[in-house]
Amino acid sequence: MEDGLKQSLLRGLTSSPKYIPTWYNYDDVGSELQYQCTTDIPDYYLCKSDRSLLEHRIQDIIPRLPYDVALVDLGSGNCSKTRLVIDELLSRQETVKFFPVDISEEFLLKSVKDLSKEYDESLVITPIAANYEQGIERLKQVEGPKIILWFDSIINQSYDDQVNTLRVISTMMTEKCRLVFSADVTVDREAVLNAYDDDAGVMQRFISYAMTRLNKDTGSEINLDRFTYEVDFVSNHDPQAMSYVTAYIRANEQTRWPIPGLGIDLSMEKGECLYFHEGAGFSCKYTLEQLGTIVEKAGLRLVGSVSAGQRHAAFCICTAS
Ligand SMILES: C[S@@+](CC[C@H](N)C(=O)[O-])C[C@H]1O[C@@H](n2cnc3c(N)ncnc32)[C@H](O)[C@@H]1O
Repeated sequence: MEDGLKQSLLRGLTSSPKYIPTWYNYDDVGSELQYQCTTDIPDYYLCKSDRSLLEHRIQDIIPRLPYDVALVDLGSGNCSKTRLVIDELLSRQETVKFFPVDISEEFLLKSVKDLSKEYDESLVITPIAANYEQGIERLKQVEGPKIILWFDSIINQSYDDQVNTLRVISTMMTEKCRLVFSADVTVDREAVLNAYDDDAGVMQRFISYAMTRLNKDTGSEINLDRFTYEVDFVSNHDPQAMSYVTAYIRANEQTRWPIPGLGIDLSMEKGECLYFHEGAGFSCKYTLEQLGTIVEKAGLRLVGSVSAGQRHAAFCICTAS
């Protein structure tokens, strides 16, 4: 196992409370499970809302600039929504240089293969299989104006990491660049829980995949039947905070599992929880005021936002300050 990954897992599993970071869910299997959440959960609204806004208001979402731009997509996933942006840019300029960045290498390469077939020479793709920081370091060497997308991904970081990643993104932005990120502005508890606690357990399969991957990566045999899976929504309207989903497993009894690949035992008291995210929660939800505060803390300027009111997705358009 790569040393950075091992250190992150060790940090999470030995801290109090114990956790596995959300990004660990994203290998080729986990990325596919996440995609199933967007297609198979009838009440999973975020992706549908993003898509609908992109289909109907792309002129407002993707800034029209008086020069050709390269397109960067951070956490590009299967690029399904990105296609709408690529089509829009190709209606404005002859070719587009495209830099998708994703931590999930196999999934990234598969998406790139599909895109290459579809777009031929009009789309010049340079895939970057890396985490955000490493990807942005490489992108700093790419000169010229860029539109940087970060769709549905800020929501899965802790508050401090959201500010920090935005700050890192700003280091590759000149005054000719724009950042467009999407976030969830749903505050209705029932809507959120219907999406994240679906009856068929599709979301649970994706979220608890972190344990399956841990067993696979480290040779451990942690049995999920000895735990109860729980999910909740925590609402917070403080402008300096955000609302979020929390998901965790609770030990049904005192339990101890060797994790050979990490050289530790996972010991849990009866009732103790192991969280599937770092920090208070994941899949964060915001008011527009809260989003503005985060952007400002990162030293960027929010110059516009597009949403369908106080429900579901909002696209935020930012410039380097
Ligand atoms: C929720 S999905 C969003 C995918 C796509 N942008 C969309 O809107 O459909 C998050 C994506 O970010 C990637 N990802 C998660 N953490 C990452 C990190 N630290 N660095 C780079 N990519 C990451 C995942 O592999 C996944 O493809």
